[in-house]
This record gives sequence, C-alpha cells and structure tokens, in this order.
Amino acid sequence: SGGTFVPAVVVGTGYGAAVSALRLGEAGVPTLMLEMGRLWNQPGPDGNVFSGMLKPDKRSSWFKTRTEAPLGSFLWLDLANRDIEPYAGVLDRVNFDQMSVYLGRGVGGGSLVNGGMAVTPRRSYFEEVLPQVDAEEMYTKYFPRANSTLRVNNIDKSWFEQTDWYSFARVSRRQASNAGLSTTFVPNVYDWDYMRREADGAVPKSALAAEVIYGNNHGKVSLDKSYLAAALGTGKVTIETLHQVKTIRQQNDGTYLLTVEQRDTGGKLLGTKEVSCRHLFLGAGSLGSTELLLRARETGTLPGLSPEVGGGWGPNGNIMTARANHMWNPTGTKQSSIPALGIDDWDNPDTPVFAEIAPLPAGVETWVSLYLAITKNPERGTFVYDAAKDRADLRWTRDQNAPAIAAAKSLFDRINKANATIYRYDLFGKQIKAFADDFCYHPLGGCVLGKATDDYGRVTGYKNLYVTDGSLIPGSIGVNPFVTIAALAERNIERVIKQDIADS
Ligand code: FDA
Repeated sequence: SGGTFVPAVVVGTGYGAAVSALRLGEAGVPTLMLEMGRLWNQPGPDGNVFSGMLKPDKRSSWFKTRTEAPLGSFLWLDLANRDIEPYAGVLDRVNFDQMSVYLGRGVGGGSLVNGGMAVTPRRSYFEEVLPQVDAEEMYTKYFPRANSTLRVNNIDKSWFEQTDWYSFARVSRRQASNAGLSTTFVPNVYDWDYMRREADGAVPKSALAAEVIYGNNHGKVSLDKSYLAAALGTGKVTIETLHQVKTIRQQNDGTYLLTVEQRDTGGKLLGTKEVSCRHLFLGAGSLGSTELLLRARETGTLPGLSPEVGGGWGPNGNIMTARANHMWNPTGTKQSSIPALGIDDWDNPDTPVFAEIAPLPAGVETWVSLYLAITKNPERGTFVYDAAKDRADLRWTRDQNAPAIAAAKSLFDRINKANATIYRYDLFGKQIKAFADDFCYHPLGGCVLGKATDDYGRVTGYKNLYVTDGSLIPGSIGVNPFVTIAALAERNIERVIKQDIADS
C-alpha cells in the first residue's frame, strides 16, 4: 500500500464535490479534496482577485495564450479577446473537434465563473430524466437542502421593474409577451441586496461592472463561500490546490491509490505524489470524472469498470442566439451581468425551450437581445479514451445539435415575427451565424446514474468508489443544472454515509 493515507478523498471542488465533502466532514470522516485549479482569495496587482470581463488578463483563462470568450466578436470583429500569458486562470474552454465546453477551474469549480442562476427543474421533467430517483424525496428534502445551503435568493421585483440595470431584460420580456410567451424570475446565488447597493454606489461594483465569466470580485456566493467554507469549518476537510489527479488504481486491500501532479500557477510540474484512501469520490465534473474513469478502464488500472463509462453525454440543449432590436428599443448601456429572467416555454409539446435572457454588458448601446436557450435535444455524445493524447475525446458532431437549433429557432422566430425584428449574425465568430451551436456551459453525463453507477452514484464494479457530479445526469435537465447536481449529491452522500461509511 503506497502514498499518504486518508480515509476519504474527493477529487475536485465543484458542486458534487463540495456537497460530498461537507457531509463527510460533518460525519467526522477525515477528507482530502484535490483541486487542479488555484484558490481564488488573493488580490492581484490591481487590488482585485479576478480580472474583469472587459479587460481580461492571465487570471481569466486556464493556460491559454489568448482568451476564448463565448461572444468573441461584434460585427464579425474579434474585439473582446486579448493575448495573455499561460496561467492557472479561472475559466477553461476545452475544445473538442465539434464542441467546446466552458468550465471553471479553482476552488469552487464552475461556481467561480457561472451566472449563479439557481433553478430547480420542473418536477415532471426531473422524473422523466431520472425515473429511478424518488422525486417526492428530492422535492421535499434534497432540493430545499441544496437551495438553502447554496444561499439561493430572489430579486426584489419592485427594484427589478425600475432599475436601469435590467432594462435589457424588460425589453426582452415585453417582446416575448408580444409573441404570447411568458417569462419567469430566476433565483440566484448572487446576493441581490448587494447588487442594489452596487446600484446605489454604496459598495464596489461586480455584477454591475460586467464581472461574471472570469470571476466576480464581490456579491456572488460561490461554493468557497457556502458549502466549502462549511466543509472546512468541520475541521475534518482539507483542500490541496494545484493538484491534478492523473491515475486511479485499486490496491489488494481494496483501498485506492491515486497519482497526483502538483504544479505552480505557471504550469511547472513541482512533483508527483501518491495518495491512498478507502473511499474515493469523483467530483471532477462531467469531463473530469469521466476522463479519470475512462483512463482507468482503458489503461487497465480499473479494468472492471462498466462499458457505460463515457456514455450519455449532452450539452443540456444549450444554444446561444441574439436578436437585433429597432433603434427605438435600446437594451441599455447599463446591464447587470447576472440574468434575472427566463422565457419559459418548456411546456410546449413540440419544442420545449427555457431561455435565459442574457445580458451583453458591453458598456455601450448595442441594441442586442441575447439569450441562452436550454432545449430538449435527445442526441447524446460519447467520450472515448485517446491513448496518444492520454485524454478523453468527445464524439459529438455538429449536426447532432440540429434539433436544439430547430427548437430555439421556432421560439425566436415567433418573437422576431411578433416584433418585426431579425437575428444578429455577427456575434458568434467569423462566420454568418445566428445560433451558437458549437459550445456549451452545461456539460452533463459521461457516468450516468443507474448505468455507469448504481442508483446512488456507486461506480459499477468497484466498492467504495463514487461519482458525485454532473456526470451522473444523462445529458439534459431542462434548466441551468447546478441546483440539480447539488441536490442529487445531497441525496447520494446521505445514503453512502449511512450504508457504506458509518458501518465500515
Ligand atoms: P464542476 O465543473 O463545477 O467542478 C469540477 C472541479 O474539478 C473543477 O474545479 C475542476 O478544476 C476540478 N477537476 C477536474 N478534473 C480534475 C482532476 N483530474 N484533478 C483535480 N481536480 C480536477 N449552471 C447553473 O446552474 N446556473 C448558471 O447560471 C450557470 N452558468 C454558467 C456559466 C458558465 C460560464 C459556465 C462555464 C457554467 C455555467 N453553469 C451554470 C454550469 C455549472 O457551473 C456547472 O453545471 C457545474 O459547475 C458543474 O458542477 P460539477 O460538480 O459537475 O463540476
């Protein structure tokens, strides 16, 4: 048996990982979290922890020589991106052949870069996606538990109605309503009271200073401030940063042995460590956890893993699109970077869509209405292990997004028709393109619940090995996914602690 022994290891510090670590810590289990990104708590030379969205520097991106912003262009010109020095920055874009996936890197995972939209899915759709999970228990116990621990809160509606910072959302709401579509307020983990004080000039601005995808310097309750702070508070949980887990093998006594690479923020290898544990929780996200298991299966370190590992991946139907408004419908020079409304047409039997009304906080009037549509695309991708590159490759072709584009188009064609407006074709790269179908924010699947694992995330074929994150969800959940990831992790870890750990 090799390496430093710890009873439990959690790989990653995103939603599934953070939930699991908190509950393990509360149960008294000494737990080590291994995170490949850095801890984001030290101000840089400009006095801020994160670089902003409008002038990104090396802190913005995970080892890139140029930033890769989702809205890289305006009038087909690449205006938003900057050349930068490779660094352990907070936002990664993993580029596969026909699909790119945005991810957060650092203590808190995706919570550091995401829009904070905290949406509990329609119960009927949850039941359709995960029929083996007791929905009654989820909706009475685990969704409420996740929402309260994440500190989800709601916008003050009277402030929303009068603030300049959401005029873009009110314009889109009126235009949706002209097409007979209804909108809904979206809860968030951004502190809406803080945002009001930003608007009043009483505190430093973050959402109102265009901060989001490269990190929020204020206002957002990311996981480092909620679940992970509580986990560290148990005194049982420790986090090692800039530590990337590379390989997993099982030893003769049933414990797991991990090899872990430690690097500095410039990417220099500082050393390779071995860590062993009895209980191993994979919370490295859809791409990360799936890659670790695929590598283990294909290189023979965990040869008994299910052939289902790698399957059932989807981008949650993500399609971005934008409309051009008439001159008399400005969307405002002031735009909060935190979305507050969604167009809810999920009950449409032909083309269900939940579209968040997204800001384009450029600081100048653009007359653009931007949306992230979540559609119900039945197409799924598969990860395969690429031995030459020692990484998971995604088998997903662009044409698999055709059903998602068709659904988004059907909704926004209705809105354009009702308002005599058109799409913008210049925002998504150099081509003429109205629908961004080549990237996503919501990677889901790869180690699907009940397929690559049992119904509680226990990996098939191995004892004391668990998947806790977005890889469990089979490609679609109909809304922004982190509340579901957290709630499912709450459910699974409760069972695992009771049955697998308390008695062992
Ligand atoms: P997550 O990806 O959060 O965490 C995985 C962690 O593991 C990362 O910190 C990673 O660095 C680490 N890791 C990976 N491999 C490792 C290894 N081998 N060793 C060590 N560490 C490793 N969702 C939502 O509900 N509302 C929203 O508003 C948004 N908005 C949004 C915007 C943007 C820009 C992005 C990129 C994403 C969103 N999302 C979102 C999606 C949401 O952030 C995402 O679904 C969750 O973060 C996924 O949680 P997981 O626990 O699966 O992994």
